[in-house]
Amino acid sequence: MASVFSAIGNWINERAPGLVPVYRKHMSEYYAPKNFNVWYYFGSLALLVLVNQIVTGIFLTMFYKPDASLAFASVEYIMRDVNWGWLIRYMHEVGASMFFIVVYLHMFRGLMYGSYKKPRELVWLLGMLIFLVLMAEAFMGYVLPWGNMSFWGAKVIISLFGTIPWIGDALMEWIMGDYLPSDATLNRFFSLHVIALPLVLLLLVVLHIAALHEVGSNNPDGVEIKKKKDERGRPLDGIAFHPYYTVKDLFGAGFFLIICAFIIFFQPTVGGWFLEPDNFIPANNLVTPEHIKPVWYFTPFYAMLRMVPSFFGTAVWGVIVMFVGIFALFLVPWLDRGVVKSVRYRGRGYKIGLALFALSFLGLGTVGAGLSFEMIPRWFGPDADVTAIENFYGRFWLIVYFASFVALWAYTHFGWEKTRPVPERVTGH
Ligand code: HEM
Repeated sequence: MASVFSAIGNWINERAPGLVPVYRKHMSEYYAPKNFNVWYYFGSLALLVLVNQIVTGIFLTMFYKPDASLAFASVEYIMRDVNWGWLIRYMHEVGASMFFIVVYLHMFRGLMYGSYKKPRELVWLLGMLIFLVLMAEAFMGYVLPWGNMSFWGAKVIISLFGTIPWIGDALMEWIMGDYLPSDATLNRFFSLHVIALPLVLLLLVVLHIAALHEVGSNNPDGVEIKKKKDERGRPLDGIAFHPYYTVKDLFGAGFFLIICAFIIFFQPTVGGWFLEPDNFIPANNLVTPEHIKPVWYFTPFYAMLRMVPSFFGTAVWGVIVMFVGIFALFLVPWLDRGVVKSVRYRGRGYKIGLALFALSFLGLGTVGAGLSFEMIPRWFGPDADVTAIENFYGRFWLIVYFASFVALWAYTHFGWEKTRPVPERVTGH
């Protein structure tokens, strides 16, 4: 068998000698630090989910109808009549939420270990661009089944553009191709969701990994392994990506797929968190869902929007705060002036700041999801002023969210951080 593979390899190599160095550079001679922990699974898992979304998406597109009068029924048709259609759809729908779980953990890993710092700023920036495109991709995908939450979600989000002074109304109309989300909107969202954004996403992911492989991976110790090499120029603390990490990542993928299978087979809507009940009702522009809220992964950003009051007769401030909230993440490599990368050797302030940042993100998520709305009467009694308490709670987390960025800059800029010595070599191995 091995000789068959090597014969095929030789045959290809004679005709395309340029491919072998690419394989070596990115696989068999890509030296990754030997101390990767579980946090390093999420990059390869994100790739796995991306492939899942593309493959299941191709099959869904074979049966879905991008027409406002047919879309909802075509999804029901996929669920009930198409062979294995229910599985393909649930793999795609659960995949969307798993994508965000994996990407959020992947980003948090980057923050923990300072993977955004020099020389990996470009890797981080490309990652943030991926995140933006992923949000657009998920939003447009959610509109396609043309359920009632698809319609109202689209209306609310597109209306955000309407708050922009002077050009808002025209812009909104241009995006929708109508005065309401309609067939024209559905068609363009379909086109963007199915081909345009996935292409951009794929390109960005290739660039993201290429940029990473130029400089090499960071690791839980934040030690640059390229600084200590053996006589053949290989990093002393590095191991070949293939076979060592391909095998390790396969184990992670197996574990992850088991969890996904449980969700897909037993709880595909996760009690309304992955797919909201209102999306099982066809779009109706006369009936507003009781609470319009996005799927869980958008809720922290949605809360930013909701927690900012209107001033001077415009709601644009919430939109600005939300965009600044996302944009702040792009700036992290420049806000953080500290030289020590990994949280393991950073000052206590950094650890507290990172924990508060994560808590604020979750806290805002509960506000955006309307959880606080449900809890308040239960905790504070039926006469409680729900709006006042919710605003207080939401604005508290909003301030913590932004304060954590400012504190990061101040803490590292004024030299308040007391770090611990970083070891010369990676630890624990
Ligand atoms: C489709 C989404 C994404 C895919 C497929 C992807 C893929 C990967 C892969 C395969 C790696 C190398 C393995 C690893 O370190 O885990 C990686 C590393 C990295 N990614 Fe992503 N990524 C995605 C999104 C993001 C996002 C949204 C960010 C942050 C804004 C990000 C930031 C990083 C950083 C900083 C590294 C280097 C980590 C290190 O060396 O410690 N990625 N990514």
